Amino acid sequence: MELLEAIQSRRSIHEYKRNLVEAKTMEYLFSEAAWAPNHRMKEPWNIRLYQENGKKSYVESVLRSYRRQGFFEGYDQDKQTRLEQGIEDFLWNIPHHALIYMEKDEDQRKYEEDYAAVCAYIQNFQLLAWQEHVGVLWTTSPYLHDPQFAEDIGLDPKVYKLVSVLQIGYPKRIPVPKRRTPIHKKLHIFDGNEKS
Ligand SMILES: Cc1cc2nc3c(=O)[nH]c(=O)nc-3n(C[C@H](O)[C@H](O)[C@H](O)COP(=O)(O)O)c2cc1C
Repeated sequence: MELLEAIQSRRSIHEYKRNLVEAKTMEYLFSEAAWAPNHRMKEPWNIRLYQENGKKSYVESVLRSYRRQGFFEGYDQDKQTRLEQGIEDFLWNIPHHALIYMEKDEDQRKYEEDYAAVCAYIQNFQLLAWQEHVGVLWTTSPYLHDPQFAEDIGLDPKVYKLVSVLQIGYPKRIPVPKRRTPIHKKLHIFDGNEKS
């Protein structure tokens, strides 16, 4: 697949087939994504990959976070149970969840550099995945900002920033593309010939 074709045709995937992506493919994707640019060669990305029975404690931690944040409040007990069950089933049906996290640098500039590098890593990952017919959803769900969630999964929230959870698997359905804004509305060129 050409680079432009991969960039244009990649879609965020919301529905996955149940089968796992082969371990060798996953290793290849996580490994080659590391060619992302990163300042000072810090390679700030870290990954926790939850799959098969490893999803159990992760899904439980997500549900506890949703409860803490009041997602199920205002509903009767029956409805709450159904909502929780719906989220649990939804998460269980996704073959892989990759939590991407980085150390928080106290220096704001370095923190931003590291965050940018991790995002470059994620984009590399999802483009490479697409080339292998593997779908990804880049998520920034509310539990990533819940310090207790980080504690629950064994990461000190004072030390680590949880950047994203990538949902990963073979696509069951590929959404239609969302149109992009013509770039002339966003690109302003200054070459000395612009009218004042
Ligand atoms: C930083 C970031 C966070 C995102 N978080 C979510 C999310 O939490 N849930 C979701 O459904 N999509 C999320 N997305 C995916 C976007 O919704 C998606 O990229 C956008 O709708 C364009 O669709 P496409 O990727 O198929 O072109 C996120 C994307 C980025 C870059």
